Amino acid sequence: MKKLRIDLADRSYDILIGRNLLPRLGDHLSHLPSARRALIVTNPAVKKLYGEVVSEGLQTAGLAVKCAEIPEGEKHKTLQDAQTVYDHLIENQYDRNTLLVALGGGVIGDLTGFIAATFLRGVPYIQLPTTLLSQVDSSVGGKTAVNHPRGKNLIGAFYQPRLVAIDLDTLSSLPADEFRAGMAEIIKYGVIEDPKLFAFLEKNSEKILAQDTQCLERIIETSCAIKAKVVERDERESNYRMVLNFGHTIGHAVEALTAYSQFKHGEAIAIGMVYAAKLSCQLGKCSKETVTRIEALVERYGLPSRLPDFPSGKYIETMYRDKKAHDKNIRFILVKDIGTVEIVDRVAESDIQKVLTP
Ligand code: NAD
Ligand code: GLY
Repeated sequence: MKKLRIDLADRSYDILIGRNLLPRLGDHLSHLPSARRALIVTNPAVKKLYGEVVSEGLQTAGLAVKCAEIPEGEKHKTLQDAQTVYDHLIENQYDRNTLLVALGGGVIGDLTGFIAATFLRGVPYIQLPTTLLSQVDSSVGGKTAVNHPRGKNLIGAFYQPRLVAIDLDTLSSLPADEFRAGMAEIIKYGVIEDPKLFAFLEKNSEKILAQDTQCLERIIETSCAIKAKVVERDERESNYRMVLNFGHTIGHAVEALTAYSQFKHGEAIAIGMVYAAKLSCQLGKCSKETVTRIEALVERYGLPSRLPDFPSGKYIETMYRDKKAHDKNIRFILVKDIGTVEIVDRVAESDIQKVLTP
């Protein structure tokens, strides 16, 4: 097992990465606050796979354990779904000595974190991420949220978990397309921070797609370490944390224009990364070779690299509406070289238009 520490003063915590972690969860909870009861928040599919083993792991740490189920999917990351969990907590008189346990992908992780941040003005929670995307991204860093009918993640809080335990065994049940979607975020870390990781992904795609343990451990650990470093430097995204949004300006527009139904988040980010690289090259920030490497790597992991067919004006309009648009400007993370990016607060519409037009 590997252990990383994310250093955020009194909000610091460990990130554990390894196989067979969920059955031994109880061994890793002794430092947590004096919780007596735990509520696992999960969805029916993940509960069926891992609910029992997690429940037993928590019981060995002396916790009384119950489970709350949220129906499957992004459309259930809402205040109404949070309300069903608040109802359960209040009706069953849970107090501040309660540990919430997020068991699932990013939807469950974001929702549970949000409930933990708000119930009784904040109770502790831990993340047990079971998708590749949630293992390398959403479970680390304390961004919690629910969606609003007008947009994704519009209601939320920065609220750090007390522990992230990444059991690689959970990936064996993950559908292949979900695994590939998680790879997009790992490619992102290579582009923004780590040329060695990028080269490793280029060389080892077959082993990685076959879920070779050593490869998985290495790329997940490296990704979490990069994310931890970024969050340590800028926990509340005042500036530097925005580098994690590489590929997201166009990626979010792709998701919104296709009504969040055609592409998984990671797939949309893959397209967004390719076009952010093309824009960077057009603006003279990076070489054509850099664009080719990013595009080739995205495609090697079976991810889409072409924009769905909407007029460029639609893309631009949607980018202006994104919550990450800045003072009515469209912000991009542009790549200078593999491993080095730049936050550019204002990119001219005419330049964006050019890159979006085939
Ligand atoms: P998800 O949570 O919807 O999970 C994808 C699917 O995989 C679901 O159907 C789920 O039931 C299933 N699943 C989960 N684990 C499984 C397993 N081990 N075996 C079989 N099936 C399994 O999707 P996701 O990609 O994990 O997360 C997407 C969410 O994460 C979005 O809501 C996005 O906004 C959020 N997100 C948050 C952050 C952050 O920093 N907080 C970062 C990136 C993404
Ligand atoms: N996923 C982007 C962030 O955590 O900031």
